[in-house]
Amino acid sequence: MEKIVVASGNRGKIREIKEIFKNYDVISMREAGFDREIDETGSTFEENAVIKARAVSEALGCIALADDSGLCVDALGGAPGVFSARYAGGHGDDGANNALLLENMRSVPDEKRGAYFESCVALCLKDGTVVTASGRTYGRILRAPDGEGGFGYDPVFFSGELGKSFGRASAEEKNAVSHRAKALAALAQKIGGIL
Ligand code: IMP
Repeated sequence: MEKIVVASGNRGKIREIKEIFKNYDVISMREAGFDREIDETGSTFEENAVIKARAVSEALGCIALADDSGLCVDALGGAPGVFSARYAGGHGDDGANNALLLENMRSVPDEKRGAYFESCVALCLKDGTVVTASGRTYGRILRAPDGEGGFGYDPVFFSGELGKSFGRASAEEKNAVSHRAKALAALAQKIGGIL
């Protein structure tokens, strides 16, 4: 089976993609020998996913899969959105990002705390062909972190589909409803005939 290289340095994401795409031979870009930073200059999840998948596919001559994702909060006009990883400044500082989000949501009443996670995944084949798919999962922002599972904003996101925070969900529970799982399922449908 042809290897699929995940164009991400985010361990939480890589773990989930390996769990969800368990029927494919998935390895991380670090395992494949790519450890450069990729500039995410796009203004949408889809643009950034395509940039990352193309960068790794072209550098290694492999099939590459990227996920660009984030949290979109109604009361914040869709923020942090594509800036989710760097909301509080430093890239991927989950503790600081969650603290800033809770602070910015402090005066927002319960009925206006709706939010969703979105994931766009892009698969870049060796000939440069790119296939994309996306998925969302809806819920609301809690007033304090609940649970320590998952990664990123999981402890402050109460999943409407699970009836509990993603921070308290098992990997199986989160992967049954998550934005990433939905995006990857849609991608798997599209690439069924290709890979
Ligand atoms: P990216 O690597 O630029 O796509 O950044 C994604 C960021 O969005 C992560 O660093 C997290 O802050 C957030 N994020 C995306 N998916 C999830 C998730 O499943 N749970 C929690 N946070 C997520």
